[in-house]
Amino acid sequence: MSNSIGIHDLSFATGEFVLPHTTLAAYNGTEIGKYHVGIGQESMSIPAADEDIVTMAAAAAAPIVARHGTDRIRTVVFATESSIDQAKAAGIYVHSLIGLPSATRVVELKQACYGATAGLQFAIGLVRRDPAQQVLVIASDVSKYDLDSPGEATQGAAAVAMLVSVDPALVRIEDPSGLFTADVMDFWRPNYRDTALVDGQESIGAYLQAVEGTWKDYQEQGGRSLDEFAAFCYHQPFTKMAYKAHSHLLNFNGYDADKEAVTAALGLTTAYNRVIGNSYTASVYLGLAALLDQADDLTGKSVGFLSYGSGSVAEFFAGTVVAGQREHLRTEANREAIVRRRSIDYAEYRALHEHRLPADGGDHSNPVQTTGPFRLAGISGHKRIYEKR
Ligand code: CAA
Repeated sequence: MSNSIGIHDLSFATGEFVLPHTTLAAYNGTEIGKYHVGIGQESMSIPAADEDIVTMAAAAAAPIVARHGTDRIRTVVFATESSIDQAKAAGIYVHSLIGLPSATRVVELKQACYGATAGLQFAIGLVRRDPAQQVLVIASDVSKYDLDSPGEATQGAAAVAMLVSVDPALVRIEDPSGLFTADVMDFWRPNYRDTALVDGQESIGAYLQAVEGTWKDYQEQGGRSLDEFAAFCYHQPFTKMAYKAHSHLLNFNGYDADKEAVTAALGLTTAYNRVIGNSYTASVYLGLAALLDQADDLTGKSVGFLSYGSGSVAEFFAGTVVAGQREHLRTEANREAIVRRRSIDYAEYRALHEHRLPADGGDHSNPVQTTGPFRLAGISGHKRIYEKR
């Protein structure tokens, strides 16, 4: 039996619209350097009124099913922290939209931005038990903070779908993981709110604590040493956070964190997050997509992953890039998902931010806005109605 399990395919989708940070800065009077340099963000994806975590997830997963078929997929793990229902797993809508067979288990996972990594690890366990099976892991989130709050500049939206399989075509995931959990209130969203609450500075400190904690445990579990890694994919609530995190890791290990060394280790991973914004649990895997799409051949090289979810749970683990991975990348489709977005002005953004599905149980249609392959057509009797184009 092959011991090699990991990411066999990776595809992502994002929202219909994009808000440039220059537009937000012109509205709120912020000096643009704070956004472009201070937090390292240029623009953020904004979903259309007829898009949500389900439509983005289906758009991300459909190309995987088109390429690999459905025969071996017996489990769908849907990770999100912007859940649309307290009971029904959002993945069931996706299961139906992309035509998966009824002999499938579908479940939703939550632990802030860490959820997809839990999904990936659980998927590896399932594939190890039966190497004939593949698991579809989906991470989909809409990051939404209050208007005019400091968090507003760190919004975004995206879904990543990954097929986890034996003998993966992209990245083999290695066994030792460094784990860290701490009960902190750095970022949370009570059930009665649709925007997150956050203590910005506390959240940055909690993230850095988790970097230290996971690394210590990773070393104790027999993990690789720092200089064995060719690149690092960090969770990126804003891209500057990855720079802060890696500098912290270097300092913690007694190295100087000069900007050149940090940029060499993670610069390529920030390309998609910089223009998409925070996609919460999808973010670390958007970092991987950006790395693989742009790097010279990484075959046989180790990549370090740091997944952080506020509240907080974090994990550090390593992956090895597989020979021939370039032939399996979706570089053109990834770039298209970004460039196809339509830029909106501040008034359009504000209207979308304030848009809510009516909660009165009546029949309501959504305006037709998305040009994507799936849409949330409306709500009727408290039931969401999705359609495939
Ligand atoms: N030119 C260049 N840089 C500038 C500047 C200018 N004109 N003006 C300010 N800056 C710099 C500041 O010096 C600062 O840099 P450092 O952090 O390196 O010191 C940076 O821009 C941001 O400035 P502030 O700290 O003053 O910004 P803020 O108070 O508006 O808050 C924030 C920034 C805390 C990130 C806020 O946007 C926020 O709360 N975001 C949501 C929370 C978040 O993303 N936390 C990250 C860790 S938690 C996590 O990772 C989970 C998750 O996904 C939420």
